Amino acid sequence: MNAPVPAHNLAPFGDDYGPLLQGVYAPVADECQLTELPLLQGAIPADLNGVYLRAGPNTRFAPNGRYHPFDGDGMVHAAQFAAGRLTYRNRWVRTDAWKEEDAAGKSTFYGIRETLKGRPDKRLKDSANTDMVAHAGRALALWYMSGDAYELDPTTLETLGKSQAVTASGGGISAHAKVDEIAEELMFFDYGLEAPYMHYGVVGPDGKLKHYVPIDLPGPRLPHDMAITEHYAVLHDLPLFHDPEALKLGRHKICFFPDVPTRFGVIPRLGASDSIRWFEFSPCFVYHVVNAWEDGDWVEMVGCRYMPVRHADGSIDANRTARDVAELVMHARLWHWRMNLRTGESQERELDGERNVEFPTYNSARTGRFTRYGYLVDHSDVNTLQWAGIRKYDLTTGECLSAWSDSLEHSWYSEPWFASADNPQSEDHGYVIAFQWHDQLQRQTLDIFDARDLNQGPVAQVAMPVRIPLGFHGCWMAAHRMKAKV
Ligand SMILES: [Fe+2]
Repeated sequence: MNAPVPAHNLAPFGDDYGPLLQGVYAPVADECQLTELPLLQGAIPADLNGVYLRAGPNTRFAPNGRYHPFDGDGMVHAAQFAAGRLTYRNRWVRTDAWKEEDAAGKSTFYGIRETLKGRPDKRLKDSANTDMVAHAGRALALWYMSGDAYELDPTTLETLGKSQAVTASGGGISAHAKVDEIAEELMFFDYGLEAPYMHYGVVGPDGKLKHYVPIDLPGPRLPHDMAITEHYAVLHDLPLFHDPEALKLGRHKICFFPDVPTRFGVIPRLGASDSIRWFEFSPCFVYHVVNAWEDGDWVEMVGCRYMPVRHADGSIDANRTARDVAELVMHARLWHWRMNLRTGESQERELDGERNVEFPTYNSARTGRFTRYGYLVDHSDVNTLQWAGIRKYDLTTGECLSAWSDSLEHSWYSEPWFASADNPQSEDHGYVIAFQWHDQLQRQTLDIFDARDLNQGPVAQVAMPVRIPLGFHGCWMAAHRMKAKV
């Protein structure tokens, strides 16, 4: 068991590092385990069993220079449900970098805004702070720039070590690997600065590397997500990538290229490199996919299209687009892309032109299979990681079926996840779970909604005696998947 870290190990952070270490973003000092938490309303459903895991940055030592949330040491916050009882835990992921800085008693890395000062041996710190994926009884903490897959015990949050499958590949793994919960296979991609610039792999239910192939891209790219269907993986080649001149100088500067198409590559789950088929679409960045599935000859993918910022004359403002992407300020619309494997045809359409929705979730038991419902947050047009409400969408029509936002202003939700009820009778028979920070009241809660109708508001709201800083991605791990099979 990882020993708890006492609060006095933390340096106080002043205003020197920018706004994203202050207020709702400020890290917490302690690791804890809490039970008997007071209910503000409702009751914990008895048919909700499993754990909601949410990753995010929680910087431990004062940064070396300017700070970006991608730099913060990964901390996992967990709400575990068992027969109507709730346990909250939080733990840092014990990455190699965490251990190194723990021994040094200070930051030994430079962040994404200080890459010119970065170390020659490790340009950036793999903080494992971005995404949580549940596979083969383990929770995996992943990093957006491709790094190691840190395996955690989903109950204790103890860091067990690195995924042997990813280590065996000789490469890394990006955030947003996808798990087919029916086959219990994990599909992942790795990307980097060296040709062929991407690899694609599959980990079997036994935790062993089953498939691993290079994917040729035109140059170093910055994909953020991927998708799977029952028989295929969908890999992303997007027109937002490093400024080639800045890259030569070792600087981290991203550019949007409005004349370069978006490409999605469809590869059979265990396909060879040359079996990938690329489909072109209108230029855009995509942070997050909702889900994908097959329909006859079509591969269908629903996601959040990052809408390029435009000048007054309608032309794309490439600089502002790249800057907003880098600052995690999102202008996204729910979008539907289709790829015909027989004819090679591409189709795309906007599903909801009105709302800026992101950080999508759905019933992950159906990853890669048709899902009618998605649950997304109302994203701020200007602020980083501040999400004021939760919406349920019909992914086939783009209709918002129900929604909830707190009546208080400045209330921010974490990325919610759908959790099936025991013995579900339908795709949406279950709950939507999210942490919520009420800034006016300085109050943290855990909110549980009936996924069939968010308009009712939470069916249970639990008061949390500790703050949970705004963060990144979560996942739901049903109780029957929490036992390690390997
Ligand atoms: Fe992400």
